[in-house]
Amino acid sequence: MSVTSNASEAARGKEVSAGVPMIEVRNLWSVFPHPGGGSVVIHKDLNLQVERGEVLTLVGGSGTGKTVLLRQMLGLNTPARGTILIHGEPLAALSGSRAATHVGMLFQQGALFSAFSVLENIAFPLKETGAIPKALVREAAMLKLRMVGLQPGDAGKRPSDLSGGMIKRVALARALIMDPPLLMLDEPTAGLDPDSSDAFVDLLRSLHEELGLTVVMVTHDLDTLFALSTRVAVLAEQHILIAAPVADVLAFRHPFIEHFFLGERGRRALERLHVRAPAIEGQ
Ligand SMILES: Nc1ncnc2c1ncn2[C@@H]1O[C@H](COP(=O)(O)OP(=O)(O)O)[C@@H](O)[C@H]1O
Ligand SMILES: [Mg+2]
Repeated sequence: MSVTSNASEAARGKEVSAGVPMIEVRNLWSVFPHPGGGSVVIHKDLNLQVERGEVLTLVGGSGTGKTVLLRQMLGLNTPARGTILIHGEPLAALSGSRAATHVGMLFQQGALFSAFSVLENIAFPLKETGAIPKALVREAAMLKLRMVGLQPGDAGKRPSDLSGGMIKRVALARALIMDPPLLMLDEPTAGLDPDSSDAFVDLLRSLHEELGLTVVMVTHDLDTLFALSTRVAVLAEQHILIAAPVADVLAFRHPFIEHFFLGERGRRALERLHVRAPAIEGQ
């Protein structure tokens, strides 16, 4: 049983053999029926590796299949072709509650149960899976509540009493309740004001360090991307164009990359970081 993060760290160490990527996506295809007949290929022979302990940020234009890929890595969608391995094990073999102990997910909208208290929301996956004795559920949930910077007095509140930043924190505590080694974040700072966004990024950074988490994140927010990413993977033309440290991605010539990083928003974010954006020819 692992209610403390030290115990779960030890368990993780044993579970994950060195040298095996945390996630390996091999030759993945996603094909959906087209509303007007025929089919649409979203991902074509897509390959991606996520190493243990990194924060990989997935970027790509709207509709390129970022959310579909996250859902596939969670086992919620099955690709048309290809394989997904989670530390060496085919995802298909990690069904139900076993998958939940491997991957925590922070959904974009927070997705809390409005009729439940903060503590009941955090404890929900533990109760569902019956992973630990009932008497310890409350204690485990309180531990996670403090871990995300909430106060014991927040435990009994309803989601409708919470600010946007607090809702994200509760959703994060719930995503971490099973002590997963892997955390997926879909637009973690979307909809937050700049101060709450900075505070949430700081929290994510310290949890990543303290818990040794591997994180896969989708974000459009360049401040969040620059603050947290160890590598950035660019989804375009139905596959991963490049997955590399942000400096290498900035140097990669592609219309989407230039638009995303070197447009007005990107330049402002780079300026705040005192990074000089590469010049684009013709500008
Ligand atoms: N279950 C589905 N059936 C049909 N089309 C889908 C399904 N899920 C996603 N799509 C399509 O796949 C494309 C990629 O979607 P999505 O992953 O949500 O994009 P984004 O990169 O913006 O997150 C979109 O065109 C979407 O309409
Ligand atoms: Mg999406």
